Amino acid sequence: MRAFAAKKSRAVKAVAGRRFPPAFLDELRERADIVSVVSRYVQLTPKGGRYWGLCPFHGEKTPSFSVTPQRQMYYCFGCHAGGGAINFVMEMEHVEFMDAVKLLAEQVHMELPEMIEGRESAASRSQKERLYEVNRQCARFFHAQLWKKENEPVLSYLYGRGLSDSTIRMFGLGSTPPRGDGATQALREQGFTDDELVMAGVSVRRDGRVYDMFRQRAIFPIIDAQGRVLGFGGRALGDAKPKYLNTGDTPVFNKRQGVFAANLLKKQRGLKRVILVEGYMDVVSLMQAGVQGVCATLGTALTLEQARLLKRYAPEIWVSYDGDSAGQHAILRALDIFEEEGVRARVLDFPGGMDPDEFVRANGLAGFEALAPMEAAEYRMKQEQNGRDLSTQEGRTSYAIACAKHLSRVKEPVELENYIQKLMIATGFTREVLLAQIGRTELIARDKQAVYRRAARPLEERAVGADVETDAAEKQLLRLLAEGRVESGTVTADDFITESRRELAKKLLAGMTPGAILEEIEDEQQRDQAAALLQKDSGADEEKELRMTDDCLRILHRKRIEQKIAQLREQLPQMTGEDKRSTLLKIQELTKARQTAGRKE
Ligand code: UTP
Ligand code: MN
Repeated sequence: MRAFAAKKSRAVKAVAGRRFPPAFLDELRERADIVSVVSRYVQLTPKGGRYWGLCPFHGEKTPSFSVTPQRQMYYCFGCHAGGGAINFVMEMEHVEFMDAVKLLAEQVHMELPEMIEGRESAASRSQKERLYEVNRQCARFFHAQLWKKENEPVLSYLYGRGLSDSTIRMFGLGSTPPRGDGATQALREQGFTDDELVMAGVSVRRDGRVYDMFRQRAIFPIIDAQGRVLGFGGRALGDAKPKYLNTGDTPVFNKRQGVFAANLLKKQRGLKRVILVEGYMDVVSLMQAGVQGVCATLGTALTLEQARLLKRYAPEIWVSYDGDSAGQHAILRALDIFEEEGVRARVLDFPGGMDPDEFVRANGLAGFEALAPMEAAEYRMKQEQNGRDLSTQEGRTSYAIACAKHLSRVKEPVELENYIQKLMIATGFTREVLLAQIGRTELIARDKQAVYRRAARPLEERAVGADVETDAAEKQLLRLLAEGRVESGTVTADDFITESRRELAKKLLAGMTPGAILEEIEDEQQRDQAAALLQKDSGADEEKELRMTDDCLRILHRKRIEQKIAQLREQLPQMTGEDKRSTLLKIQELTKARQTAGRKE
């Protein structure tokens, strides 16, 4: 039972939810030093105050990956990944924070300290531990049932779907017992309470009695990268509904966050791509056929969290959903989500509406590997043909407009050129007209540019960001702080208007390095965003730094007054008499203050 027999993660689990003391982490970061940490994986060359190398997170031929020792952080200008030394080890080794710290500590010969209590209370932590244990014991129970004579129909069902014993063991597949409360009974005997069983989702309470959640089904345990059993999917043996019954949300399971087979994915190093499928059986069947790096979303549309998780395992994802129309729709959604996460995604299209399981069983590994993935833009263009009649001028025009939207996201001119050629043939429009529609007039021959440029729409709709000036001032101030160019006492966190930046400022002012600050941001997207901000040079020299700080502070001060004025103005209509008068007076005062605030001394 390879799937969940591993007991070795116990020691790690016992400390989950606890934290390392901050002083220990500080010393570790200092001793490990980000340049030496990264150098173990990436060849770095110094240039202009930074170290440069080929980014290990996305394929590239010229270095856009930088490490800044002063800030103890890395940042890639290509894929915009950024963080501190611990983040780097997490990404490279596919490990969680705790294990990354352990690895680093070992390298610099530091002993691990006693843990301190984390944010999560001890009670909720131990409850989660209990639920993981319920699930693990339940998975063992289901797996053992599979080999019993009375459950022969389930084993036959799995054999009937072409699965071998070793595949069944690798995934820890199982069977429900004959009695409708068999699992519940067995787990009670192991000392779990009914409340725990219901909370874990393996049992349900009805009319005061407790039964098994899963009955007459083949069981697919859902196991995370740390080897913990989170929940189960149960396949009906025949046409019973629902076809798959899944564990609902529990304190340890949220189907929007995990993927099926994360435990196996983690073990496969150096994957070139992850294959994302829809179903449990697709994963099991592809992996049995010898396909590496396969996982499935858990019966829901792909979420951002899942995209983020998958990004850690390979530089690109091949979306391999069913060929039916629901599947096609889901593919387009998934492509959007991966794009939003900055992950390169392509599509494996299966002929004849087959799903990956059916395809690989019919065509074998060789057939599967012969499938060429489609680029996202190519797939989107193909989908746009549905429901359009390209034999009419109207159809061709609307097709060209729709495709241009997709193609405006293609950055590489050579890639774009291929699509343009295809689109010219399909629609009859000239290259120039299509480029203008896409907003890439710079690719049109120079003598013709002017004609088309006027008509071209902007390449990207500008983000309607709140306030450009505040934004710039806050960013610049943060950079100055990160570089240690601000005299102490001149800037406080309260000078910042935006909440998230105020937090960053607080930490910088407390003396944390940008790298250490980034390590405290758990959300990967937020971390990359903060990294993009903190990696940037202020461009200030000794002469300018004072004035720059001053300018930024003045802008923020003025903005704050403006906000206050706007707030008061909004309240005015509801006011009468004395209230109204005093508010008007206040506005007048603030307006005066605003003018002085704007003026340079
Ligand atoms: P499919 O209906 O495509 O089934 O659902 P499948 O994977 O091909 O299953 P087999 O081959 O008939 O056994 C795809 C996935 O959607 C979820 C499951 O995760 C399933 O693997 N699903 C589907 C459910 O959660 N509940 C259902 O009732 C159906
Ligand atoms: Mn199927």
